[in-house]
Amino acid sequence: MALQRHLLPLFILWVFSSCFYRSLQEDPFSSFIDETSGYDHRAYPTYFGIINDQEGELEHRFARFNEYDPENLSYEILAKVGSPSTSAQVFNVDDYGAKADGGDDSEAFKKAWKAACSSSSASTLVVPQDKSYLLKPVTFWGPCKSDVTVTISGTIEASANQLDYKNDRRHWLIFENIKNLLVEGGGTINGNGKTWWQSSCKINKTLPCKKAPTAVTFYNCNNLGLKNMRIKDAQQIHVSFEKCSNVQASNLMITAPEKSPNTDGIHITNTQNIQIKSSVIGTGDDCMSIESGSRTVEATDITCGPGHGISIGSLGDDNSEAHVSDVVVNRAKLSGTTNGVRIKTWQGGSGSASNIKFQNVAMNNVFNPIIIDQNYCDRAEPCKEQKSAVQVRDVVYKNIKGTSASSIAINFNCSKTYPCSAILLQDISLVREGGTAKALCNNVKLTKVGTVSPSCS
Ligand SMILES: *[C@@H]1O[C@H](CO)[C@@H](O)[C@H](O)[C@H]1NC(C)=O
Ligand SMILES: *[C@@H]1O[C@H](CO)[C@@H](O)[C@H](O)[C@H]1NC(C)=O
Ligand SMILES: *[C@@H]1O[C@H](CO)[C@@H](O)[C@H](O)[C@H]1NC(C)=O
Repeated sequence: MALQRHLLPLFILWVFSSCFYRSLQEDPFSSFIDETSGYDHRAYPTYFGIINDQEGELEHRFARFNEYDPENLSYEILAKVGSPSTSAQVFNVDDYGAKADGGDDSEAFKKAWKAACSSSSASTLVVPQDKSYLLKPVTFWGPCKSDVTVTISGTIEASANQLDYKNDRRHWLIFENIKNLLVEGGGTINGNGKTWWQSSCKINKTLPCKKAPTAVTFYNCNNLGLKNMRIKDAQQIHVSFEKCSNVQASNLMITAPEKSPNTDGIHITNTQNIQIKSSVIGTGDDCMSIESGSRTVEATDITCGPGHGISIGSLGDDNSEAHVSDVVVNRAKLSGTTNGVRIKTWQGGSGSASNIKFQNVAMNNVFNPIIIDQNYCDRAEPCKEQKSAVQVRDVVYKNIKGTSASSIAINFNCSKTYPCSAILLQDISLVREGGTAKALCNNVKLTKVGTVSPSCS
């Protein structure tokens, strides 16, 4: 009996995972990037369907996700970081006084975290389904005694009262100094950012520019998993990985209105060995931004739009030294974004952005599909010309197809003193609907393989 009880779910899992695997093989998703036609709108409903699934579907998603991995990447992180094991001790926020009645539940979450984090065996902090908890800024501090899983099945909503952030306007939820942490559960983290957007100087030019919180920050975490979560309407950045290593993030849906200012989807800084997979991101700023100190970053199967695209940078602001290397963006789909795959650096910086690969990317109506901008300037007053620059080299663009919303489909605007070097374009086909697409190439050393269109003159 006991044996059967264990085997049945396994069998079901196996059946489902083989089905998912097969359907993926047949999915237009995998083949469509070879088509010139561009964007497959069917991908959206698929993703939304997945995210909307009920709790019982989670296992399928996990199975699907594991099968999905084409490159046999290491899954030891998530294996080690307790997948919700029956042996883990459960700490339910409701048992620590959380009410989910619209009042402040911060203290209950802090108490539950403290208990979970000091548990001597693996623990699970549970945020129950079908309830909405209101939180002021909370830091979930480590180190913890054992592996911790945070299972968010319900909704966590941010206090919209800006006074609650008076001690630190930059952060809402922080996970800090934690090893072996998994955050998952199919629930929602809602930054409730509307009041912050309205008071942004980018929206209302009469207002002073002030900082606004990042919804979820992971700081100094090692062996971290974030999966099956919906994160929406952040005050500013949605999810930020800072000074972390060995990170896997997957099956995330990150959304905010197109007009919400600075609401980057996933921000990565000073972080090494990070994989982001199978996620849908549509916000008012970069879907992903990869910043200085980041190395070995892999983004696979990202659907992006609306937003500002997938960016490396901006690097080198305020004459700073920046280093980003070993980035692979594979099988991305961008639709209606202002940029596609972008590298942006400020004049006056130093350091480098190198070993970067953008491949198998589908563009639908993207304003700047391929862009390197070494003259990036995001300030009200124009940036003055400076000689020093962050060196951009060894960048591969391979199999990038689709439509450009502007006439400049490829824009390499590189520095005179530090030209972009070893840039490879292979099998590129970008067209402008009802017009001609062109490539602008300033100070760039290019190699072309296969058909590259448009091409610099
Ligand atoms: C691929 O996965 C198998 C089974 O998990 C493992 O034994 C092997 O080492 C992996 N290969 C690589 C290159 O990671
Ligand atoms: C901009 O901010 C000012 C000062 O708070 C306010 O009076 C005005 O109504 C705001 N404008 C808009 C369009 O919200
Ligand atoms: C290149 O950058 C300079 C400086 O920001 C800008 O004036 C120019 O318009 C850019 N060229 C293109 C083609 O984007």
